[in-house]
Amino acid sequence: MSAAETNPNVRTVASTQSEMTEIILPNDTNTLGNLLGGRLMHFIDLTGAMAAYRHSRTHVVTAAMDHIDFIRPVHLGDLLTLKSSVNRAFTSSMEVGVKVWAENTQTGGVVHVASAYLVFVAIDKQGRLQKVPQLLPETANEVRRYEDALRRREHREAESARRKEARLATDDEA
Ligand SMILES: CC(C)(COP(=O)(O)OP(=O)(O)OC[C@H]1O[C@@H](n2cnc3c(N)ncnc32)[C@H](O)[C@@H]1OP(=O)(O)O)[C@@H](O)C(=O)NCCC(=O)NCCS
Repeated sequence: MSAAETNPNVRTVASTQSEMTEIILPNDTNTLGNLLGGRLMHFIDLTGAMAAYRHSRTHVVTAAMDHIDFIRPVHLGDLLTLKSSVNRAFTSSMEVGVKVWAENTQTGGVVHVASAYLVFVAIDKQGRLQKVPQLLPETANEVRRYEDALRRREHREAESARRKEARLATDDEA
């Protein structure tokens, strides 16, 4: 038996995997008939939250959405499929990866259109931080994502400290 089966404070990546499919309608698109970036970010946020809910089994808020790569446009009428899973859990936060594909309904062709990393934080109804279960990476890819997630967290923390310093330095400016 694995640690995830015997320990309620450990989850597998597979237990967090989530998926959502949407058809792109005129309300989702810009004047060229391509999916709006903000709408895509909304779908990414929702699919990411599903994995975070499955991992934490509590309330979650989006703390950060970073590293979104919009690789190719998505067209009116395409079927959009988003897949998410937790890459790593820390104390109250979880990094979730979301990958997005578009399917042309006429040709059946499927292309990778976007990828993103998000950080969700677990809180209770009063907004107090909640400790989340640890993640057990099982496959070579899961281990790679687990290790990369720590590097991204360190990078985010350094950037956040730099931005805070810049804000403080310019606070007196109009
Ligand atoms: C996210 C939030 C709960 C963090 O609260 P906080 O009091 O700043 O908490 P802390 O600084 O103690 O950090 C708590 C955790 O959040 C993480 N975190 C906080 N801000 C973060 C950010 N900008 N990016 C990534 N992680 C962040 C910390 O790394 C920490 O993780 P850990 O417990 O796993 O080590 C708070 O900033 C918040 O409520 N933000 C608004 C969220 C929101 O409204 N989202 C959109 C709608 S869902």
